[in-house]
Amino acid sequence: MRIIKLNAIDSTNSYLKQLSVEESLVDNTIVVTNYQTKGRGQMGTTWVSEDSKNLMFSVLKDVSWLHADKSFYISMVTSLAIIKSLEYFSIPKLRIKWPNDILSEDMKVCGVLIENVIKHTHLKDSIIGIGLNINQTDFSNLPKATSLRLISGQVFNLDEVMIMIIKEITYYFKLLKAGRFQEIKNLYETLLFRKDKPSTFKDAEGSMFSGFIKSVSNSGNLQVLLEDDIIKEFDLKEISLLY
Ligand code: BTN
Repeated sequence: MRIIKLNAIDSTNSYLKQLSVEESLVDNTIVVTNYQTKGRGQMGTTWVSEDSKNLMFSVLKDVSWLHADKSFYISMVTSLAIIKSLEYFSIPKLRIKWPNDILSEDMKVCGVLIENVIKHTHLKDSIIGIGLNINQTDFSNLPKATSLRLISGQVFNLDEVMIMIIKEITYYFKLLKAGRFQEIKNLYETLLFRKDKPSTFKDAEGSMFSGFIKSVSNSGNLQVLLEDDIIKEFDLKEISLLY
């Protein structure tokens, strides 16, 4: 393991990705920063965080042993590792909002941005970026966001939380490497936000529709039971879950 600590950077994911192109990095190289000037979220969104209040880090994992059609399992094990770590800090009512937002009491506390490096159609590295709201208390522009401090009233040591997450990532990646796919998927689905509950979605054109979340496919598509008893699969570009 190698930890690179920075005071400020555009994005820990971008930095680690660039570094992995320039030099060959050891598995578990971690980049952590106090502040990001161009923090990136899923689907081209931005990730904004106050200076030194929250965790922003990226982990490089060698995933050359994983078949590319199983790449969503990286997302699943990462979500499980974060949930396990937050359970350790007694954070209540944890759920995974598909594909990998981490919620506590239905509010988003953590976001994950996974970027895979593919070489000759095979997976090579995965850059797992984690933004976990920890000690920030003002989310006035983000009504659905919260932090560990707002939830628990406690102030946390950022390094301590990061080390716990890295430990759990190591554990869950071992399960993945051992091929325990069904077990991982079961754990993930058990924690899925609004599973088997009536949910409202927005499609790419902006229209709303409702259905019941049933499960996820191996490629990470959400399987939704629609009216007329039809189960349809959607990928992240096609829909977003509203509530
Ligand atoms: C999301 O919820 O859309 C994902 C947010 C991911 C944010 C983290 S912060 C550390 C890493 N560097 C980035 O630029 N993004 C991820």
